[in-house]
Amino acid sequence: CGIVGYIGSQEAEELLLTGLKRLEYRGYDSAGLATVDDAALHVQKQEGKVDDLRSSLNGASVAGTTGIGHTRWATHGAPNDVNAHPHVSSDGAFALVHNGIIENHGAIKERLEEKGYAFQSETDTEVLVKLIEEVKRATDLSLPEAVRQALTQVVGAYGIAVVSREDPDLLIAARNGSPLILGVGDDEYFVGSDAAPLVEHTRQVVYLEDGEMATLRHSGYEVTTIDNEPLKKEVHELEWSLGEIEKGGYDHFMLKEIMEQPDALEDAMRGRVRPEDNQIHLGGLHGHWDQLREADRIVIAACGTSWHAGLVGEYLIESASRVPVEVEYASEFRYRDPVLREGDVVLVISQSGETADTLAAVREAHSKGIPCFGICNVVGSTIARETDAGVYLHAGPEIGVASTKAFTAQVTVLSMIALKLAEGRTLSKAELADNIRALAGVPDKVRRVLNASNGALQSMAHTYRYASNFLYLGRGYNFPVALEGALKLKEISYIHAEGYPAAEMKHGPIALIDRSMPVVFMAMKDSTYDKVLSNIEEVAAREGSVIAITDDKDAELESLCEAVVEIPQTKEFLSPLLTVIPLQLLSYHIAVLRGCHVDQPRNLAKSVTVE
Ligand code: G6P
Repeated sequence: CGIVGYIGSQEAEELLLTGLKRLEYRGYDSAGLATVDDAALHVQKQEGKVDDLRSSLNGASVAGTTGIGHTRWATHGAPNDVNAHPHVSSDGAFALVHNGIIENHGAIKERLEEKGYAFQSETDTEVLVKLIEEVKRATDLSLPEAVRQALTQVVGAYGIAVVSREDPDLLIAARNGSPLILGVGDDEYFVGSDAAPLVEHTRQVVYLEDGEMATLRHSGYEVTTIDNEPLKKEVHELEWSLGEIEKGGYDHFMLKEIMEQPDALEDAMRGRVRPEDNQIHLGGLHGHWDQLREADRIVIAACGTSWHAGLVGEYLIESASRVPVEVEYASEFRYRDPVLREGDVVLVISQSGETADTLAAVREAHSKGIPCFGICNVVGSTIARETDAGVYLHAGPEIGVASTKAFTAQVTVLSMIALKLAEGRTLSKAELADNIRALAGVPDKVRRVLNASNGALQSMAHTYRYASNFLYLGRGYNFPVALEGALKLKEISYIHAEGYPAAEMKHGPIALIDRSMPVVFMAMKDSTYDKVLSNIEEVAAREGSVIAITDDKDAELESLCEAVVEIPQTKEFLSPLLTVIPLQLLSYHIAVLRGCHVDQPRNLAKSVTVE
């Protein structure tokens, strides 16, 4: 979900609506806002997207220079008007927006019901609102103090923002487990669940940590712990620019981000991949290379697309360093009391740096005294701050819910790490130089794939848009790409798709193959080619429609396939960076043709900050 808040001298309504629009990628089931003006609290909320909220305002102005807004990804209760945020206290005095989950909401609700509180919604948020109300009523405390004391009673994750008609010059923000940033302007302040709604107003930000609370007024802000200890917070400079979080002429963020990949990869490598002196330089891991090279085991933990990047990382790091690597879903890792021993190193991968399960994996590692490094895109994100060291992607903000440039940037960073680990171990100087040059040449090859294949993939999308199932198959480095290709299609087009290691096809999925089943093969002329070709023959023999992604389109392959997409040759370990591009484009065009909301696929959210 997304939170935005404002206090200053401008009218809040428009600032909140634009802020929500920028946050919409974090959730879009429902949206709402509350403003305070002349001792009145105006609340408007609505099932649907931010545009629906805007239309529901129907020209009626929601006045006030203090306000909060929310765009929701439903956890408790269906996405409808009643469950939408903000939630308001029974006396109508204050309104609150919330990200996260209050785990003990059941017990608190019972207690409050005994005291006569009635509940309209099915949300845990309303329980928090009424708990604050009860604390305030029973103790006659100020609102900030009541919020603080109520928060000491809740278990779970929250990022909240509160405004009150009793004090228009007050905006309260607090966080525990769900990100919140303060934007510091000139006599005006902002609150955001990430930087997206802030960048156009200020670049000065304060990151709230877990267990911290801020009280913002026109005249300034104060931050304390939930236990009321005053804190002096550092102000950081934001890296993102407004241009980066806008669509820049593209129809969708996803397409923009696919097309940006050559630049994103160049940015990820800038100053780090140095063919001129045959060096990989990753300052973020400086001083930790021996720890990684000498590790008994490296455990990679991540979710979703980042997990797929982790699988590529396993192949890369094992072959470069000969250190065993295991890749875990962060959610599973966290809950099964993983065996971690001295000598293990955990490496987490997260675009947003906020995914709750991945963050929990960091904490799990630390609780067992295991070093934990991170690969994140969002600078200053929670995972980036909590890991011992790490590498930023520098891929620029990714707004489209389906991850594209973050995946290729993650694989690029993992390739850099692998090459650094291989230095003086598995690669001679000459081989290292050769591989570094190849890596440096990838962005240009990605550019060539984009230029050469976009049109063809758009036409292919016309052919395959009515399929109800797809199979994606690859071997070696391209097995994770098969998983990623299938995920991209599922996420945005709602076509069922599965990815498999190509050889596993005969152990089950082959039973599904018939004329109506498109099968996408990664058929690169590498060590796995002959075997992949046999798999293609097996599908062709059963009349499946084969689409091949290859770096060498020959007559034999063409005779077996319905469509062949040719991409430039590269080293085997770098091929995922090229093979994934046509898969992203194919999914994108199919989703567009099927009339799907590409940037905001149903039920998904960009950053899942609940476990
Ligand atoms: C969500 C997004 C996915 C993403 C995953 C992990 O499910 O929809 O696109 O891969 O979270 O996100 P992270 O920010 O940790 O990489």
